[in-house]
Amino acid sequence: MTCGYVKKDRKCLKCMELDVIRLHFILFLLLSPCCSVTSANYNDCPASNGSQTLHHGQKVCDTQSGNQTNDQGVHCTLCYSGHLLNRRCYTVPGINRHNENLGTSEHILCYNPDGYPNKRVAPTPYPTEDCNTQNCKLPDCFCYGARPSLSLYDTPMFVVVTFDDGIYIDSYQHQLRPFFVDNDYSLFNPDGCRLKSTFFVSMDNTVTPKVTDLWKAGNEISGHTADHGLPSGLNDTDYNATVEAIDGMRRILVEETYDSNFVNSIIGFRAPYLRVAHETQYKVLRDLGFIYDTSLVSKSLFRDGTPLWPYTLDYKYKRCDHKFCPQDSYPGMWEVPLNVWVGDDQDYCSMLDYCTVGHNSSTASAKQWFEYFLRNFELSYLTKTPLSFYTHAHLFDVHPNSFQGFIQWLQHITKHYKDAWFVTVQQLLHWMKHPLTHQQMLEIKWGC
Ligand SMILES: *[C@@H]1O[C@H](CO)[C@@H](O)[C@H](O)[C@H]1NC(C)=O
Ligand SMILES: *[C@@H]1O[C@H](CO)[C@@H](O)[C@H](O)[C@H]1NC(C)=O
Ligand SMILES: *[C@@H]1O[C@H](CO)[C@@H](O)[C@H](O)[C@H]1NC(C)=O
Ligand SMILES: *[C@@H]1O[C@H](CO)[C@@H](O)[C@H](O)[C@H]1NC(C)=O
Ligand SMILES: *[C@@H]1O[C@H](CO)[C@@H](O)[C@H](O)[C@H]1NC(C)=O
Ligand SMILES: [Zn+2]
Repeated sequence: MTCGYVKKDRKCLKCMELDVIRLHFILFLLLSPCCSVTSANYNDCPASNGSQTLHHGQKVCDTQSGNQTNDQGVHCTLCYSGHLLNRRCYTVPGINRHNENLGTSEHILCYNPDGYPNKRVAPTPYPTEDCNTQNCKLPDCFCYGARPSLSLYDTPMFVVVTFDDGIYIDSYQHQLRPFFVDNDYSLFNPDGCRLKSTFFVSMDNTVTPKVTDLWKAGNEISGHTADHGLPSGLNDTDYNATVEAIDGMRRILVEETYDSNFVNSIIGFRAPYLRVAHETQYKVLRDLGFIYDTSLVSKSLFRDGTPLWPYTLDYKYKRCDHKFCPQDSYPGMWEVPLNVWVGDDQDYCSMLDYCTVGHNSSTASAKQWFEYFLRNFELSYLTKTPLSFYTHAHLFDVHPNSFQGFIQWLQHITKHYKDAWFVTVQQLLHWMKHPLTHQQMLEIKWGC
């Protein structure tokens, strides 16, 4: 059986799944308005230095620089929620190159069709002075170690639940869909809207229609490479291979969904195994127009009792708890740190999967998992620093009791902590740029 989607390092999707994709697209065409991304959380891009105001999703293209028959594409400036992104775009006649019968409307894809950024930005050295509230101001700069200037009482408690790796049928159906698509347990944020999560997706064995279902339900899809691999990035000759790894995930999704709104929403990245591709990773993320990275562990909680808020990479790194931290300045790029968790043996771990729960995680009860989750929540709640609830759906397969503990924990937090908000990384960064009090968020139903 031939398959139109055979790719390097990517298992061929079964033809049945292809049909699902096609059906999706026919539905997408018929029902397009329901798929548009509009939310109070998406900002327009103000005019700057001669450029015009662009609404979220709008773009201005330089039509001189390419055409649709070669894959060079047209260079466009695209507004994504307040950020002007440089992208190459091209117009696909019809929807699907692999199947000519799928309609004739034009669909604009904005990614880098030849895989490489239009231009490489020269390294920007750090400013000589230290970061402070005078030289680093919101919305585009926030110092490492700073916290928002709201009282503890007014500060909402953010919980950022993220899942890394592939999206598989079983884990989607039994562990992700009930909370993040269908809300089977009727759990809500303080404004009455649903809990949201971010998925750092790699494409190995991923079932693409489930990824788009998660996204359409309001969750965020973020980058985790095409095949869960990344070059070391020690040598600049790794640049192209790093682009292929990081942008490959978006390219596969472009080909399998032909949905530019969806693919353009992918603006964040986490390195597989947290093995950062050294400076090359940050260069590539900047050149490809990514907005944030979340690969760097912070032991601040373990060391000082205070976890770190997200910060921008404008100024020299204050304290590096990871094997590698950026050596250059990346103005406006956010780092969302992985604040360590503390296990029941009092040792710490980078993602909650890696700590010991009870005497031995393999034998820990649902109650022990619940207590582990709650204790770490409370550690962050002391300073109302966002909780890095970073895990893999795989955890629930390896330790089924952890899933029961997770359900109990979600029910407990949503019932007893009226200022706890389960948000995506993008929502958290949106709030960082435009902080509101918990009360203001309630009034405008901020998370809906
Ligand atoms: C503003 O635009 C001018 C002309 O296009 C350019 O030379 C200049 O570098 C820009 N300034 C900034 C800060 O982008
Ligand atoms: C598109 O660009 C390629 C390469 O620049 C050129 O050979 C081709 O003739 C162009 N096609 C059209 C329709 O302009
Ligand atoms: C990077 O790799 C190239 C090609 O393999 C080699 O010539 C060069 O010396 C390397 N540079 C460093 C700094 O290792
Ligand atoms: C990277 O790709 C670009 C664009 O195809 C090419 O010009 C460049 O030579 C490549 N660099 C390396 C080191 O392969
Ligand atoms: C934890 O329990 C599992 C299953 O009973 C066992 O295979 C493993 O060796 C135990 N690990 C430790 C560190 O005791
Ligand atoms: Zn991973």
